[in-house]
Amino acid sequence: MSTYTIQGGVPLTGSVNVHGAKNAALKLMAASILTEDTCVIRNVPDIKDVRTMIDVLNCLGAEADYRPDGVITIMADGGLKDRAPYELVSQMRASIIVLGPLLARLGRAHVALPGGCNIGSRQIDMHLAGLKRMGVKITTEHGYIEGVDGRLRGARIPLDFPSVGATENVLMAAALAKGTTVIENAAREPEIIELVDFLLAMGAEIRGAGSSEIVIEGVEKLRGVEHTVLPDRIEAGTLLLAGAITGGEITIAGAVAADLRLVLDKLVETGATISESPAGITIKGPKRPRSIDIATLPFPGFPTDLQPLMAAYLAKAKGTSVLTENVFENRFMYIDELNRMGADIKLDGHHAVIRGVPGLSGAPVRVPDLRAGAALIIAGLAAEGETIVYDSGHIERGYENLDEKLKDLGAHITRVE
Ligand code: EPZ
Repeated sequence: MSTYTIQGGVPLTGSVNVHGAKNAALKLMAASILTEDTCVIRNVPDIKDVRTMIDVLNCLGAEADYRPDGVITIMADGGLKDRAPYELVSQMRASIIVLGPLLARLGRAHVALPGGCNIGSRQIDMHLAGLKRMGVKITTEHGYIEGVDGRLRGARIPLDFPSVGATENVLMAAALAKGTTVIENAAREPEIIELVDFLLAMGAEIRGAGSSEIVIEGVEKLRGVEHTVLPDRIEAGTLLLAGAITGGEITIAGAVAADLRLVLDKLVETGATISESPAGITIKGPKRPRSIDIATLPFPGFPTDLQPLMAAYLAKAKGTSVLTENVFENRFMYIDELNRMGADIKLDGHHAVIRGVPGLSGAPVRVPDLRAGAALIIAGLAAEGETIVYDSGHIERGYENLDEKLKDLGAHITRVE
């Protein structure tokens, strides 16, 4: 359990770097087991979820190790096992992303069903439906998925929803399948394009990344690659909102504006000033934001991962904002905590109605999940007085040294283990 103590009211200033994208790095690590050659992945953030994925890969019989400078080497040359145990999968749902690669490489997999988490039930029905269309016989019993096949066959795979994880699992399975796979209604997130770039460098034949239709021609073998992970757009958005909510002026070096286009547009609508350069993004927060309405949607829509942070920012806006969550069914657990800091937010189904208040007041709060934790931290930065954020380890799952970065920008924040 760690706690963050924050003395609010300090406008942030200065410049800070963004780390490699968590939601890309985890998938590139899983894709590395598609080849028996060595893969080298650079600019990987040192966060708990990456450490967990390393444990998962080593448990599968690969040799994965993390060097201090953010470089991961993975070798799955021989003796790859097909079992991903509950102890590890239950620590991080994203472990399910090894399912596709295991089926592609071994023709079978025995992976624990991932549990739900605080933001929703997190089903994997679309993952399994897609793999079944490729000929995998899937049974789920005793909490495990058993996939047996032989060799996967290419298929047309229409997704009910542009699921990021389902697109990724099918992509990696299809890379070594026999024949052509067409994913319809595919996810279009930048992390999908990153995974496809990685697979192309391995020798895969894929076209349409970033669009709703991705076509994969299965190949016999894939080779090892070296790859540098793209910047984390959600960490960049988190830091931008920390600058905005404190009425400060900060630059996020390395942030890619194209990956945050709608977020930046919405911040300008609230009265923030944004300037972009090849070096990164600079934001100047308004004294008090104007209220706006937000609806989260799959990329290029407003990212659900920044929804809690946007709510914290709009909590002190002039006017009422309506924030609609369309991706996860339970991503408002932080509202009670924000209201304890003086916010006036009411939940109405999947809408949060945020009546702006002139300012927030520091309070002790508890973190329900990763991005909600970041929202409570930035609320504390803007609140009058002291906020203590009690975190049972959620924040460090997805952010590397978030408190240090905020301190570099002038925040009065201390993390205690
Ligand atoms: C990825 O989760 C990210 N995680 C999430 O970030 C992100 O919020 C999400 O994509 C949407 O952008 C990682 O990349 C590790 P989905 P994923 O499959 O792949 C439902 C963070 O904070 N669904 O697009 O799980 C699902 O329950 C995390 O970094 C099914 O019902 O997202 C959810 O409600 C949080 N059946 C919605 O679709 C399925 O088979 C979107 O899920 C698959 C998904």
